[in-house]
Amino acid sequence: MNILILNGPNLNLLGEREPEVYGTMTLAQLNVQLAAYAKKKKASLRARQSNHEGELIDILHAHRKWADGIVFNPGAYSHYSYALRDAVASICVPTIEVHLSNIKKREPFRRISVIEPACVGQLYGKGSASYFTAIDRLLKKGSK
Ligand code: DQA
Repeated sequence: MNILILNGPNLNLLGEREPEVYGTMTLAQLNVQLAAYAKKKKASLRARQSNHEGELIDILHAHRKWADGIVFNPGAYSHYSYALRDAVASICVPTIEVHLSNIKKREPFRRISVIEPACVGQLYGKGSASYFTAIDRLLKKGSK
């Protein structure tokens, strides 16, 4: 099973960005842990990050044939990017939206995700554990 981990804007600054909200682990450290986890589960994993909406769309399109599942943290785009929502809906790859923080208990603008309806699930508020749980859920769904 092939899994794409896709992170959106500002997640490249994990570890230094608002550590009281997002923790102290860097994205590189998280990706190393996710790769090890996927390997143990016999899955292939690719990790990508972009701060740009169009580039995130390009990455989703480019992986549509490769990926059997996607773990996507769209960052702030979650709350308003209909283009990303359409991209997820366009590619027919089961996608789980994840957030490190509890978006339901923060500012009102974060409580809504316009991308969620195009996803097969949404996980939030458990820090990096959300990514591992998302991988488990995708693996349970099985490969194409
Ligand atoms: C986030 C939550 C978003 O509201 C925020 O804009 C982020 C990170 C999270 O992982 O908790 O960039 O997606």
